[in-house]
Amino acid sequence: MGSATAVVPEVAREAARRRTFAVISHPDAGKSTTTEALALHAKVIGQAGAVHGKGQRRGVVSDWMAMESARGISITSAALQFAYRDMVINLLDTPGHADFSEDTYRVLTAVDCAVMLLDAAKGLEPQTLKLFEVCRHRGIPVITFVNKWDRPGMEPLALLDEIQSRIGLRPTPLTWPVGIAGGFHGVLDRRTGAMVRFERTPGGATTAIEEELDAAQAAGRFGEDWSRAVEELDLLAATGGEHDQEAFEAAATTPVLFGAAVANFGVRQLLDALVDLAPSPAPRPDADGQVRELEAPFSGFVFKIQANMDPAHRDQVAFVRVCSGRFERGSVVTHATTGRPFATKYAQQLFGRDRKTVEIAYPGDVVGLVNATALSIGDTLHTGRAVRFPPLPSFAPEHFAVITAADSSTFKRFRRGIGQLDAEGVVQVLRSDRRGEQAPVLAAVGPMQFEVATARLESEFGVATSIEHLPYQLARRTDAVGQEALRTAPGVEVATRVRDGALLALFPNRWRLDTVARNNPDVVLEPLLADTDQTPTTPAAGGER
Ligand code: G4P
Repeated sequence: MGSATAVVPEVAREAARRRTFAVISHPDAGKSTTTEALALHAKVIGQAGAVHGKGQRRGVVSDWMAMESARGISITSAALQFAYRDMVINLLDTPGHADFSEDTYRVLTAVDCAVMLLDAAKGLEPQTLKLFEVCRHRGIPVITFVNKWDRPGMEPLALLDEIQSRIGLRPTPLTWPVGIAGGFHGVLDRRTGAMVRFERTPGGATTAIEEELDAAQAAGRFGEDWSRAVEELDLLAATGGEHDQEAFEAAATTPVLFGAAVANFGVRQLLDALVDLAPSPAPRPDADGQVRELEAPFSGFVFKIQANMDPAHRDQVAFVRVCSGRFERGSVVTHATTGRPFATKYAQQLFGRDRKTVEIAYPGDVVGLVNATALSIGDTLHTGRAVRFPPLPSFAPEHFAVITAADSSTFKRFRRGIGQLDAEGVVQVLRSDRRGEQAPVLAAVGPMQFEVATARLESEFGVATSIEHLPYQLARRTDAVGQEALRTAPGVEVATRVRDGALLALFPNRWRLDTVARNNPDVVLEPLLADTDQTPTTPAAGGER
């Protein structure tokens, strides 16, 4: 991997140039539009030009992809790398649909910053709140982009109030809209005090035309709208809405920008904020709490496994976030889980269905390893001193179903398929003593995960299955003592999550859980991550979209 003296400064320098982030939003807030708008400003590295559309051209063959296109959703998620100013930007895509929020969660373990997209007319929506909880849990700094300002929407101050009161993040606007939502002229840039006027390019296919006006010019041209923006900002300044880099990096405040991705308004300002404010990759703590320095030899972890990205090949790609050192394609690394060597000959960069070979990658970058069937979600790869990054925690499942092979002669394939889906994190697989090995329980955040699981078992493993939904809605982590104590509790089932051996007690509803907890005060019943039942501000699961 090169001589140590040459590598050390190079890795630190390259890491400092990286900005690795994801856009999170409620469906329809404009995530895809914003991704495309961001890419317009950037020199996309490699061939991944258009984000959309190419998949259709190539033809969709698997059932699963047919399901994606039929529902108009994207389950596939990967990373787009592009150059902007003198930086390398890694934009990690997240699935839009709430049913795949566990997937989104795993992507968020691989980023250093998140952009929270709000629809100007809708403010905070259920999925935004849930994803925000995850960012808070992980301490991920969040930049807020209020999108669709070209359409009628909420008052900007009311939006900020909502952010403050419902998610407890102090908003610190970097720009402020000149003109109400729906009558958008541009933004006041708080750093310069000047106005950036936006003009739509015909068709909106290219970056917006921008004109900088000083305060006097802006006042002359936009009279009342300008003075209202200035007044509102004065009001905000009085209550302490100034950007504070330390508080932002500690995920206590969120810089806010206003724009309209569809017309590319405010998107350059968003990219600039990412470059200027978002943290670059930092040394990561491993599972023992020891920090793996950026300059240490290569290490990274698998945050996503995606099957069938290339319909022509039916392959499987493991996405690795580089945490330290320099990754070189073709080098042999160690798979920390098994201690076995792992060859990285097929390393690629992917976005949508475009891919190109990656030769070298640095901390913050994402490498797709093709046909890495030995790898499971959360696995660490490294060279040099051994390291294992913490396992990726699972989301609280809210949907449960028993799955069986329709024909018992296909059981072997069924078991292999279930193991594969579990390794990829498509669903959580539980074993329940009550049901036996032939009938595992699938646990999901959203029911569409079951559809993906059954469709894939059928198409890739040739196993027809039958699935029976179970009446549980809540899971709590318990222990062996709890398992014993709850054995006879009516309406409750304890099952073991195969992935991590966790014992999960399943309950049909909150009332039952409360009763059981009351009757068994000594039994451990811990909530799991991003449990909607734990966040009173979030409506119950299933209400999204
Ligand atoms: P998502 O990925 O978050 O689900 O959202 P997506 O980008 O697909 O955007 C959802 C809808 O919102 C799209 O309209 C898109 O054009 C629109 N949109 C996105 N950004 C803006 C914006 O800044 N202003 C306005 N006015 N609309 C915006 P659609 O009708 O669903 O699709 P389309 O036919 O317009 O593509």
